[in-house]
Amino acid sequence: MSARRTPTGARAGWAWCALLALGLSACDDLSMRLQKRYEVYGRAALFPDGAEARTPPDGAVAVGALAREAALREAPPVDAALMRRGRQRYEAICTPCHGYSGHGDGMIVRRGFPAPPSFHEERLRAAPAGYVVSVITRGYGAMYPYAARVEPRDRWAIAAYIRALQLAQGARLAEIPGLAERLP
Ligand code: HEC
Repeated sequence: MSARRTPTGARAGWAWCALLALGLSACDDLSMRLQKRYEVYGRAALFPDGAEARTPPDGAVAVGALAREAALREAPPVDAALMRRGRQRYEAICTPCHGYSGHGDGMIVRRGFPAPPSFHEERLRAAPAGYVVSVITRGYGAMYPYAARVEPRDRWAIAAYIRALQLAQGARLAEIPGLAERLP
């Protein structure tokens, strides 16, 4: 016998590789997307109205919608963690227009986008935190709503941080704790 024999172990190894490759290709992203499914405007023989898009039954509530509603109504207690979160979200989402200190002079405003009002003007200093939450939720004039990108709790966190920015810009020296002792 001149043909070289493949050891049984190696053959089993190849078989496992082939199986693994088959398994992986069966559940790759593309084949998941190519399977049969309903489209929004397709025709379905299954339903009496022939439409694939279904209207949710009366009273249907999207998963998590009730919790989100409740979180919008109730302001969370303001603590250091909420402030840190508010600052992080504000700087990530709002600064391109409103600027880091809230004067309405963000980077894209300096390049021609309509300027928002300063958060330090009297009207917005007097507005309650819930007003900022509602502007984020519904938008305001030229500003788009950010409800899809900012969770309700984060909206409150941003509102708290904007309040801190307002206090920081308008604080009197006497209001800063321990300042007198530190001044020369
Ligand atoms: C793409 C730019 C842009 C971004 C990003 C943006 N805003 Fe605005 N915002 C505006 C503009 C422009 C106005 C003024 C709209 C008007 O008066 O028509 C405005 C107005 C406001 C006002 C004042 C409404 C009033 O009564 O005058 C608040 C409060 C506000 N934005 C909060 C936020 C917060 C909080 C964020 C981040 C979650 C944010 N904005 C993100 C552009 C932006």
